[in-house]
Amino acid sequence: MDPEHPDRRLIKEAAEVLRRGGLIAFPTETVYGLGALIHLRDAVRRIFEVKGRPPDNPLIVHVASLDQLREVAIDVPRKALKLAEAFWPGPLTLVLPKSGSVPDEVTAGLPKVAVRMPAHAVALALIEEAGAPVAAPSANLSGRPSPTSAEHVLRDLGGRIEGVLDAGETLYGVESTIVDLTVSPPALLRPGAMPIEKVEEVLGEKVAIPDFARGLGEAERALAPGTRYRHYAPQAVLLVIEASDYGDLRRLAEVVRRTALAKAAEGLKVCVLCTEETLPLYAGLEASVALKCLGSRRNLFTVARNLFKALRSIDDEGFEFAIAEGFEERGLGLAIMNRLRKASGFNIVRV
Ligand code: TXA
Ligand code: MG
Repeated sequence: MDPEHPDRRLIKEAAEVLRRGGLIAFPTETVYGLGALIHLRDAVRRIFEVKGRPPDNPLIVHVASLDQLREVAIDVPRKALKLAEAFWPGPLTLVLPKSGSVPDEVTAGLPKVAVRMPAHAVALALIEEAGAPVAAPSANLSGRPSPTSAEHVLRDLGGRIEGVLDAGETLYGVESTIVDLTVSPPALLRPGAMPIEKVEEVLGEKVAIPDFARGLGEAERALAPGTRYRHYAPQAVLLVIEASDYGDLRRLAEVVRRTALAKAAEGLKVCVLCTEETLPLYAGLEASVALKCLGSRRNLFTVARNLFKALRSIDDEGFEFAIAEGFEERGLGLAIMNRLRKASGFNIVRV
């Protein structure tokens, strides 16, 4: 359906399926989500089953109004309302103390709930029509890259869910930014489509950025459970080559080139995820190595948007060894590096 003008008839039908306890995948501005109504415990449990999701990894609650926020969270601090006013609907998820109306199944037993209002007409129409907040993780099999199209959803979950609302490719292509507002200073649990610098501007304070939010090290169980697993991962070996100075891309490109050629010489089918800026530095490489350009370093929006599709294509096209260039951890670069490092299983080289 048209992402801006949802088909009312289909929305009604999908909402009815949700109310009967079914699972519906739907588009958001970040990635596709797999939804169930929060108070239908069996439906929520089924989300974990069909995704193969570890039971201790809580779900984000999607709301269509501030009234629904107040329904699922208690003691909502002024900071939260400020952020909601500035960025909702939008790709920012707030972690708050949960209310009694959120079943433990949704939060995996945690006393906190993660809430966001998606900036997508189809998602908002579905939540409104269903008449209740919708719990929804990304609509992929656990461990796979998040789906940025209905095709990705069906690839992973086709035959196991009641339906998917197809509104084409999602806008951002990476998930929402998650900020925990139950601690002081607020903590970044997952960098995402909303740059953390913008959040800090509105809050008027720095947000704590733990190592695991950068995709380094392991998360504490209670903090951000979903950050502990190898995530977004292709079957192929993925190596991330990071630079200590992104002002000089020649050095980075030289190491990428040497590594790619060495792996190709071992007989492996190799691909390199590169950028417009580095593409010219790989002249001649395309004879033995596939080059996938993610976009420009000057517009990380395009890189983020293409990232999950590129990670999926590594396997779909039968590559055995993939190399990704690193990015500076600013703006969307923080989210991109978090995803790449995790997708690689922390297989990282710094040059
Ligand atoms: O953009 C997004 O956020 C997408 C779309 C569908 O909204 N959703 C998404 O959900 O990415 P999921 O389940 O793939 O990732 C949710 C993350 C997990 O890392 C989970 O651990 C964390 O949010 N989370 C959920 N509830 C939490 C809570 N109560 N406390 C801490 N972390 C929480
Ligand atoms: Mg996910």
